[in-house]
Amino acid sequence: MPAPAHRLNNLPPYPFAVQGQRIQQMIVSGIDVISLDIGSPDLPPPPPVIEAIAVSASHPNHHGYSGYKGIPAFRQAVARYYQRRFSVTLDPDREVLPLIGSKEGIVNLALAYLDRGDLALVPDIAYPSYSMGARLAGGDVYWLPVTEQNGYLPDVEAIPSEVLRRAKLLWINYPNNPTGAIAEPGDYARLVNFCREHDLLLASDNPYVDVTFDGYRASSVLQVDGAMDCTVEFMSFSKTYNMGGWRLGAAVGNAGALKNLLQIKSNVDSGHFRAIYDAGIAAIDQTTPSWIEERNRVYQRRRDQIMSVLPDIGLRAHRPKGSLYIWARVENGDGVSYADAVLAQAHVAIAPGLIYGPGGRDYVRISLGVPDARLEEALNRLKQWYRQR
Ligand SMILES: Cc1ncc(COP(=O)(O)O)c(C=O)c1O
Repeated sequence: MPAPAHRLNNLPPYPFAVQGQRIQQMIVSGIDVISLDIGSPDLPPPPPVIEAIAVSASHPNHHGYSGYKGIPAFRQAVARYYQRRFSVTLDPDREVLPLIGSKEGIVNLALAYLDRGDLALVPDIAYPSYSMGARLAGGDVYWLPVTEQNGYLPDVEAIPSEVLRRAKLLWINYPNNPTGAIAEPGDYARLVNFCREHDLLLASDNPYVDVTFDGYRASSVLQVDGAMDCTVEFMSFSKTYNMGGWRLGAAVGNAGALKNLLQIKSNVDSGHFRAIYDAGIAAIDQTTPSWIEERNRVYQRRRDQIMSVLPDIGLRAHRPKGSLYIWARVENGDGVSYADAVLAQAHVAIAPGLIYGPGGRDYVRISLGVPDARLEEALNRLKQWYRQR
């Protein structure tokens, strides 16, 4: 066999794939592992989504290719969602592009923008695909320090000018995975102004915009004046509508950037199955606000349940207002050792913070996407493990 491409040397295996293999081996050997590591919603999508895919899939004409930009009705539905939810007007033909899950678009955006030597500006605690995409494209990552003290917002004014000369993309994500941090409209406005001033593409990854607690309502960066000049926002059906396995998302915003993204995508994939688009339309048009509120109440209850146990298991955290996670600091030791120990000894999987960047060394991430009974059992195991360790 020939040697694989050099680019693999620069691209470590996806962290969750590695941890997943270890968990799988434990399960195969008969161990009951409870996974609090993955952000996969455990609850089903709204019922109209299931009805829509069944109806559409039974249509004899719905099985061919659906086009590189998906079907117009789906793009129009995404535009309707932005109008209704954020009062942002999008041209469905130029400013909306369907994705096979937002992860696909995140990585392909890097391929569309980064050459060797170019930089992506990535918060040092972030969803791994921003940095992985940059590396896959042959570019480099410049880590922006973010801390609990600064609300996990990057201090863009502190970026050295020689870095800015090489940078093309700035990644942000609020409500944030893994920290649960949020951005206020004023934060977004500062970032938009900065990107316009320095000729950067602002990539706002927004899958948790509708997963919020305590009455908090998150916004879109596209609500900021002038954002459309420099921004692509990623929306995902995975978390808003519990459709993680369906692999449906959309990139919206600057038409030129979406055209460049499409140029990569149309050479790589051929769009989605028509029935998935139809299900996405149903999700947008038929999901009631009360369905979203009820689902978020379930996550909020789990959040509070976990928060109340943290002092008994050697962790501390801020109570997040959004996202699907608790980002907890390990009181004694580092996140990798903590996660390794609880997996080996309590058979509970949590994500070590280092997965999200060097700044996550002393943290672990706990997911709220776990059925209530399993969560209860996991927390009991963790308490017992901590007492006996
Ligand atoms: C911040 C963030 N962006 C993107 C994704 C990918 O979502 P999708 O299922 O749409 O690919 C995730 C998934 O966990 C995420 O947490």
